[in-house]
Amino acid sequence: MRCQTSFKKSFAAPVAGGLVLALVWVSGADEAAAEDRIAVEREAEEYFRYHERMRGFQQALRDILEDALDGDMEAVEAHALEAVPGGSPTEEGAQEQQGEPTEEEESRREARREATPRAFQGMMQETHGQFRNLAQDARELGDPAHTKRQLVGIQDVCVSCHSAYRFEKR
Ligand code: HEC
Repeated sequence: MRCQTSFKKSFAAPVAGGLVLALVWVSGADEAAAEDRIAVEREAEEYFRYHERMRGFQQALRDILEDALDGDMEAVEAHALEAVPGGSPTEEGAQEQQGEPTEEEESRREARREATPRAFQGMMQETHGQFRNLAQDARELGDPAHTKRQLVGIQDVCVSCHSAYRFEKR
């Protein structure tokens, strides 16, 4: 009995200590991994708008999946187009694109483009392109299984970008 107690005592402390160390090490590693992501800097207004668009993407994926499960391919097409700028006539982006941008808007856009890593821009275009393809295929093929497979392809891009970049408010 006594022998068992001393066994526990002599091992409990190092084991607990080891656990604490392991936890510190793991959370330290997580932090380092998070900091490894490249910061994409945005002015406050733009920063919040980006997050809003991201939540729009998430909503679109959810809606498209539900539509595909219901076999409602018209809704698949509509929801996919809502996720891309200018895709839907009621969407803010479409309205913005109607008027000619002022010189100030144009130079702000140019500055933003220059401050945004190429690969980030590429993945954003890829996401929009994939949503458009999904919409087109929903209309032309009308195959829910194909749509669900395309949802996986889109999410591969979401995952890649999230693991490489983070937004930072200027
Ligand atoms: C080109 C890069 C890129 C692509 C593509 C992308 N995201 Fe994001 N997303 C980001 C970044 C950067 C953040 C901010 C992450 C951070 O700061 O930690 C973010 C944040 C988010 C957030 C959190 C928003 C909030 O309000 O906090 C959601 C949800 C999200 N993305 C969904 C998606 C979905 C779904 C897709 C794919 C359809 C997607 N994103 C594609 C870059 C991207």
